[in-house]
Amino acid sequence: MTFAEIAARAENDPDAFWMDAARGLDWAKFPQTPHDRDGDVWFPDGEINTCHNAVDRHVAAGRGDTAALIYESPITGATATYSFADLQERVARTAGMLVAEGVERGDRVVIYMPMIPEAVFAMLACARIGAVHSVVFGGFAAPELAKRIDDCQPKLVLSASCGFEPGRTIAYKPLLDNALSRATHKPVATIVFQREELAADLMPGRDRDWAAAYDAADPVDCVTVKASDPLYILYTSGTTGTPKGVVRDNGGHATVLHWSMGAIYGVDTGDVYWAASDIGWVVGHSYIVYGPLLKGCATVLFEGKPIGTPDAGIFWQLVDKHDVKVLFTAPTAIRAIRRADPEGEFIDAASLDSLQALFLAGERADPDTLLWIAEKLGKPVIDHWWQTELGWPAIATCYGLGQTHIRAGSAGHAVPGYRFKVKDAGGQDMPAGAVGTLLIEQPLPPGAFRTLWNNPERFAAGFMDYPGHYTTGDAGKIDEDGFIHIMGRTDDIINVAGHRLSTGQMEEVVANHPQVVECAVVGAADELKGEMAVAFVVTKPGFADHEEAKYEIVTSIRGDIGPIAAPRAIYFVDGLPKTRSGKILRNLLRDIVNGADVVVPQTIEDPAVITHVQERAAG
Ligand code: COA
Ligand code: AMP
Repeated sequence: MTFAEIAARAENDPDAFWMDAARGLDWAKFPQTPHDRDGDVWFPDGEINTCHNAVDRHVAAGRGDTAALIYESPITGATATYSFADLQERVARTAGMLVAEGVERGDRVVIYMPMIPEAVFAMLACARIGAVHSVVFGGFAAPELAKRIDDCQPKLVLSASCGFEPGRTIAYKPLLDNALSRATHKPVATIVFQREELAADLMPGRDRDWAAAYDAADPVDCVTVKASDPLYILYTSGTTGTPKGVVRDNGGHATVLHWSMGAIYGVDTGDVYWAASDIGWVVGHSYIVYGPLLKGCATVLFEGKPIGTPDAGIFWQLVDKHDVKVLFTAPTAIRAIRRADPEGEFIDAASLDSLQALFLAGERADPDTLLWIAEKLGKPVIDHWWQTELGWPAIATCYGLGQTHIRAGSAGHAVPGYRFKVKDAGGQDMPAGAVGTLLIEQPLPPGAFRTLWNNPERFAAGFMDYPGHYTTGDAGKIDEDGFIHIMGRTDDIINVAGHRLSTGQMEEVVANHPQVVECAVVGAADELKGEMAVAFVVTKPGFADHEEAKYEIVTSIRGDIGPIAAPRAIYFVDGLPKTRSGKILRNLLRDIVNGADVVVPQTIEDPAVITHVQERAAG
């Protein structure tokens, strides 16, 4: 079938289309109903276990000896390969370790860990026993971890003694202790993996040593769960300081991820697939852990950076070392590599025979970067678009379905199963090529979120502005050939090095400084990271120690949210541009920091503020 035929089938008969895709998995009870329209639930009567499909069934199919998880840590020098049989053994015992602490089906388990194999074992172990994991990115600070602990109320928190950033060791345990002392909810216990580079102090009675608990545990088997049961909660930035707990189900998620590995990425069982992301983000959940393993691929777990660990050649050396067929990373990583290796000498030095395509996502892939890397690699470089809420790509070039036409500047076409619309503020469809709000028609395909943890109202709000549609939060346009172009967020979310952050949340932290009267944080275009935060701050009359305040504000953002959110600049101004009704004109501030033409709105309270702010931002 051609791509067009497949897309037409998904459009005209989604139920049959996704039932066929579901047949690619082992089900304890194959669903009889594809989709419950009223509740908007996929495979409502299906029963399955995601871990069984990602691990055990490959062993049962005689592939126990083939590689499943390849760990590469250029910072520590550690490297290891786990076969599917190894993975089964480790996951089953890790699951036993959780059960020994009383974790049961439906209980939540927070995983705050660096990129080590135990983190992957832990995620799969939760899936094995029907517990719901919530992985918190290691770069988040203690207050962010505490918020997530309070929201999902885990029975256990799993962590490690440390992680590594180039040139420094990040002690996780003090962050965990700090978070647990802030959180109202107290988990029954923590289990801490002691890395040999740094031992953490364990609190008797509360903290367990991972190795001892693991050694004492008995392996446990997969339990059957309902397809609609939650597999995980992943918190992502919304427009306020409270993160959104995206809930992912088991059956729909496993179905689409398994399908996407072949259809989008063009990989098959036995291939090596590498998503150079972090398990703390949705890309890591879907394409470091679940997608490749569901398909029976070997997945690469990389504890390092695209540059500096040790150099800009690490991606290409590891592609060669492990015969990686598909590599997936963020455009920022490619910009960093280009900066360090502008002639592509490391690329030339590698054979890259195994590599068939490079996929980019997480932020806008600027055509210059995309074309540079495509030229250097001599392979297809494919931009694709998705969100934590959706869980898998919604706009892509479906390489595995034979789509090859790439238009730099566009993220590709709608993936089968997704129906995009571009509308204006009044709800009218925009003509081809015109920019508007990017929407997806309901029902969303399997795998996409069906609720937010503890917050069904906030979930419903995402469907309210344009009834019958999910509002993506991005502006975009669809050209005459169906290519979808993403223009950026329409809300208070920015993407820094592919990491999704809320400027509203940063404003809350800045506003907490005792000398700050008001502030606005906007995303400024950044040559390396795509976007970075810039803060405009008004301090109390008479306060002049701006250098000190700047230091304190940056320290608070790093300490309250995490170092990844550190702003690029802080400008102290006498006032912020506002409408007569008092609304801060953040778009105008964004134009100012980006050097764009500033259109003075009719509604502005005091046009003179603009010149003043421009001077401060320039100086
Ligand atoms: N734990 C603790 N700290 C972390 C962290 C983690 N997991 N991840 C990042 N940080 C820290 C960094 O050490 C840095 O701290 P510093 O300001 O004290 O130096 C800060 O957060 C910013 O990190 P980062 O955004 O990674 O910038 P960088 O300058 O250290 O590195 C790049 C630049 C380009 C190498 C890096 O941004 C990168 O690898 N980008 C690709 C990102 C990516 O793959 N995203 C995928 C999401 S799908
Ligand atoms: P996250 O939920 O962290 O995956 O972030 C989702 C947001 O990242 C989207 O709403 C977009 O704004 C942005 N994004 C992701 N992929 C792309 C892409 N390929 N092009 C442009 N923006 C992207």
